[in-house]
Amino acid sequence: MSEYYIKQIFELNKGKNKKAKINTFGCQMNAHDSEKLSDMILKMGYEITNDNDADLVLFNTCCVRENPEDKLFGNLGYFKNKKKNNPDLKIILCGCMMQQKHIIDKLRSSYNFVDVVFGTFNFHKLPELLYNNIMSNSQIIDIWDEAKEFEENFSLTRKFPFKASVNIIYGCNNFCSYCIVPYVRGRERSRNFNDIVDEVKYLVDDGVKEIMLLGQNVNSYGLDLKNGENFAKLLKEINKIDGLERIRFMTSHPKDLSDELIFTMRDCRKICHHLHLPVQSGSNRILKLMNRKYTREYYLKLVEKIKKNIPDIALTTDIIVGFPQETNEDFEDTLSLVKEVAFDNAFTFIYSKRERTKAAKMPEQIPSEIVKERFEKLLDVLNNIVGKKNERYLGSTQKILVEEYDNNKLTGRNENNILVHFNGKKNLLGNLVDVKIINCKPFYLVAERI
Ligand code: 5AD
Ligand code: SF4
Repeated sequence: MSEYYIKQIFELNKGKNKKAKINTFGCQMNAHDSEKLSDMILKMGYEITNDNDADLVLFNTCCVRENPEDKLFGNLGYFKNKKKNNPDLKIILCGCMMQQKHIIDKLRSSYNFVDVVFGTFNFHKLPELLYNNIMSNSQIIDIWDEAKEFEENFSLTRKFPFKASVNIIYGCNNFCSYCIVPYVRGRERSRNFNDIVDEVKYLVDDGVKEIMLLGQNVNSYGLDLKNGENFAKLLKEINKIDGLERIRFMTSHPKDLSDELIFTMRDCRKICHHLHLPVQSGSNRILKLMNRKYTREYYLKLVEKIKKNIPDIALTTDIIVGFPQETNEDFEDTLSLVKEVAFDNAFTFIYSKRERTKAAKMPEQIPSEIVKERFEKLLDVLNNIVGKKNERYLGSTQKILVEEYDNNKLTGRNENNILVHFNGKKNLLGNLVDVKIINCKPFYLVAERI
């Protein structure tokens, strides 16, 4: 169906040299959705640009934290002005933030210069909605509150020819008390096993060497299919694909990480030894309030088991500071857990109150000065640990997938997902090369070719 509208818009745009700018906020899931959106936009006859003087601007939004909301509305003011000089400019908003009623109300009442708005469940409708907007010259807002159609046949424009992401499960059932994702992305929906495997095979035939399997919680892949499929089985099948070199995945909820998955990571050569395992807090009291469904002791035991089976594993995590009722003692528990695990990296977040979530109604939201102080302290501890951990690479040989080239400098990642810089020629882009680590910095390594 989209094909029809794509063709109509393509005909309208023909010979007009139209340009589109895509702005993506948030997680890898959004980045991946944007690759699908840009494919549709290209097919509708736009060239993708980084320039703000475009004929179409799209914002694929995030609402996990509050900050991006201010950023988006700031940006809209800017593009409202641009529209004065170019009345044909199309402004399109989509993604998680659009699934929130207060945002839609605001757009309807005060932002009627925004042309098209859609959400997380119907982004395959972009061509139809844009076509309707062009024809009616009026604002089109179409938000679904559940996944009514499973759109499988997406093509996408990849940022890198040699690596790609593949969705395996959409949505989340966990309802962590701070998190808006289950409200804006719906319940867990696993994709069909063979469809995923076929998509990876297709991508590998198209030159992809590294695949990233995506889901809010990849460990619960298959549970809703009720046909015995699970994430470990999927990994084993993908591991067999000839020509594929590396398999990555994110994100894993600690409560669902099975022994079978650990053994699969240990035994399948192509699965990278990197695990992103968000802990969020080191305090049992806070973990309970967060509805994370595990304890500090469980997490530490799990880490011990992972390290025992996969000694060279790199562990990364997400941590929230300043959750309601977090005391200094709770925060110290987080610091001590960080030290005990010795993470290879961590994404740290200041707690952000999200409407509709349970935590938003909790008493004792922590004053921002205290949160900032804790946040700085956590960063200090982490920088120290991450820096020390990186030292273990000094003098070692690492296999790097070369991702970027700039002026004889190459950048890539080793199996543990650590950034590595070294000198070399552009023709190495997209290749796996062996390098020797000659210098270790807290967040990257420096190497030379061998
Ligand atoms: N405030 C701060 N951080 C949050 N995250 C999710 N919701 C919130 C929130 N309300 C963080 C969690 C999650 C990551 C993707 O974002 O750490 O793992
Ligand atoms: Fe949000 Fe928790 Fe689901 Fe992750 S597991 S998306 S933090 S509710």
